Amino acid sequence: MTLLVTGGAGFIGSNFVLDWLAQCDETVVNLDALTYAGNLRNLAALQGDARHVFVHGDIGDRALLDRLLAEHRPRAVLHFAAESHVDRSIHGPGAFIKTNVEGTFTLLEAARAYWSALGEEARAAFRFHHVSTDEVYGSLAPGAPAFTESHPYEPNSPYSASKAASDHLVRAWHHTYGLPVLTTNCSNNYGPFHFPEKLIPLMIVNALAGKPLPIYGDGQQVRDWLYVGDHCSAIREVLARGRVGETYNIGGWNEQTNKQIVHTVCGLLDELRPSAAGPCTRLITHVADRPGHDRRYAIDARKIERELGWRPAETFATGIRKTVQWYLDHADWVAEVQSGSYRDWLATNYAAR
Ligand code: NAD
Ligand code: DAU
Repeated sequence: MTLLVTGGAGFIGSNFVLDWLAQCDETVVNLDALTYAGNLRNLAALQGDARHVFVHGDIGDRALLDRLLAEHRPRAVLHFAAESHVDRSIHGPGAFIKTNVEGTFTLLEAARAYWSALGEEARAAFRFHHVSTDEVYGSLAPGAPAFTESHPYEPNSPYSASKAASDHLVRAWHHTYGLPVLTTNCSNNYGPFHFPEKLIPLMIVNALAGKPLPIYGDGQQVRDWLYVGDHCSAIREVLARGRVGETYNIGGWNEQTNKQIVHTVCGLLDELRPSAAGPCTRLITHVADRPGHDRRYAIDARKIERELGWRPAETFATGIRKTVQWYLDHADWVAEVQSGSYRDWLATNYAAR
């Protein structure tokens, strides 16, 4: 038995591959283009492990996909690969359309051709699991009910629009061709291997370097934070027992403003790695807001709990402490990802704010 994972060198994909192989012996073929966000170092623990087959390539390469599917005969495709950062999508939306929309289309077509030619039993067992985001639902007013799976799609950024388009393609490939798909829409993840362009790791690495902690606008935007290991366990449950053609929302029941998040990170750093220069909060700086910034996301995760019995195992207090400790223990990983292209990104996104 084999899984084909796309984007398994990124933040969530690498956590998923590591968790999967820690729990079972089913081979993972990991297809990743190694963009700035993909990092083989995340998978260093699997070096020499025959259960992990890494393939450097693009989900838009149909010939490569056909070859991998024919050679490895996976029982499922888990599709994590994407351009994932909202701010980058504002500066350069083209890559988001290319990978998230066109890439997903190419992957669906390859999966459809492979699945159509399978024997009856393998066809029935095959799954195409599409990993998506709560951002496709748009922004919630304060006090409005959290997103359910039937909430209208109202994407507001180039990133969320491209993910919404990919969700629609996945849905259509099920309804039109019968491809056995599963879609999960998850809230904001945090944890090990999170690239420091996103809020939580950026705040940790900047604070450790004594650099400003840039909060966009008033910092009252709300996100629903989930520890990445809990996202991985939810995906495993949906893959194993989710109903074909269904969507499952995944969230942490953990709404927090960005300001609260930054204060929590600062409190932990003051405890675990105090600075002689004073409390970490001295570094907080309010900067120009993100254009089109969604005010609030919140996930109603009752369906996955009702149908599959899944609930997050970590509280925010336990998950964020583990996360801050992981960054303190992995200064070498942080130093490596802060390469020239990372510094270029910081200049692009923050210099004019
Ligand atoms: P990430 O940016 O950390 O990693 C993306 C990975 O995909 C990288 O390894 C990159 O090299 C690879 N990739 C990009 N383009 C590719 C291509 N054309 N072909 C092959 N590989 C390619 O992203 P992440 O945060 O790990 O997110 C993974 C998935 O989960 C995405 O689909 C994202 O939309 C979704 N998601 C993320 C979050 C979150 O909070 N990070 C929440 C919900 C859903
Ligand atoms: O909701 C799920 C989504 O969460 C995923 O689909 C995306 O892939 C993932 O990147 C994340 O999107 P966000 O835009 O919510 O995450 P980000 O970490 O970029 O920002 C979180 C909040 O923090 C957001 O309101 C913007 C704010 N922010 C972010 C950065 C990088 C700041 O205030 N300052 C910053 O420097």
